[in-house]
Amino acid sequence: MLKKWSAAVLGGLLVVGALSACGGEKEGDAGSGTKKDDGKITMGFAQVGAESGWRTANTKSIQEAATAAGIDLKFSDAQQKQENQIKAIRSYIAQKVDIIAFSPVVESGWDTVLKEAKDAKIPVILTDRAVDSKDTSLYKTFIGSDFVLEGKKAGEWLVKEYQGKTDTVNIVELQGTTGSAPANDRKSGFADVIKADPKFKVIASQTGDFTRAKGKEVMEAFLKANPKIDVLYAHNDDMGLGAIEAIVAAGKKPGVDIKIITVDAVKDGMTALSEGKINYIVECSPLLGPQLMDLAKKVVAGETIPQRVLTEETTFTPEQAKAALPNRKY
Ligand code: AHR
Repeated sequence: MLKKWSAAVLGGLLVVGALSACGGEKEGDAGSGTKKDDGKITMGFAQVGAESGWRTANTKSIQEAATAAGIDLKFSDAQQKQENQIKAIRSYIAQKVDIIAFSPVVESGWDTVLKEAKDAKIPVILTDRAVDSKDTSLYKTFIGSDFVLEGKKAGEWLVKEYQGKTDTVNIVELQGTTGSAPANDRKSGFADVIKADPKFKVIASQTGDFTRAKGKEVMEAFLKANPKIDVLYAHNDDMGLGAIEAIVAAGKKPGVDIKIITVDAVKDGMTALSEGKINYIVECSPLLGPQLMDLAKKVVAGETIPQRVLTEETTFTPEQAKAALPNRKY
């Protein structure tokens, strides 16, 4: 067993670009096996699930980066359920792993299990999504995107697109998983920007749980209930892609009859953008693995790390998507 975390983390903000993952895959299970005493760092990672293309790319990045960094990874998939994540974290505590990392499915309800990890002197790193715990000593750092900024970027594109026009713009919104940080923040960031102009009206807003199937289902309902939809804002590509199927089935042209803005920029989304079916994508990088492993090593070594590590991201128009697609890693 490696020496346990001891140093307190000082504040600070580090902005780093998302790195490409490399190396082979590694599988693990929260509930199986005990920690090996082979001198390697053992990390328990509690993943949200496999709900989207983004999540699949994120899992691959974490598994490949662990292999490349020589970290023994115990990996679990919570199938979008908080109770499964809590169970996995408790199992990692019982196995006395050196460090725990997880992407919280929702923001609330983590204090008890995080306190258990702290009492067991096992440091925790939040990746991708934040928690709303007041006690920030319950985790060492949070690495991931600024979801509010992503929502704002989506809103800013819309404001520019309809600049000089006075007619009402009817918007429907496909939210991510209810209670999750990206759903909360992408909604509020977008709303903050468009509220300045009363012509923008969000006429329907419902969760599509970040999945393609739910995105399609909810969009079908939106289309039935609302004869005039001008814009769809989907909190991720997958829901946007599901919605495109519903729009086509309703005899409308995605990207033309209904303008579409999504978040993520995974390959399928970028392809639809390059074909004009989506009009604008705000990037959210899933390639957090290499940075996560680097931070984990530092934490276990007792080094100081920043409390927030922000992922650097961009936006894409159809032309930019065409140019970026040949080298897109996910
Ligand atoms: O937390 C990141 C979000 O989770 C991604 O935008 C979405 O695709 C995923 O499921």
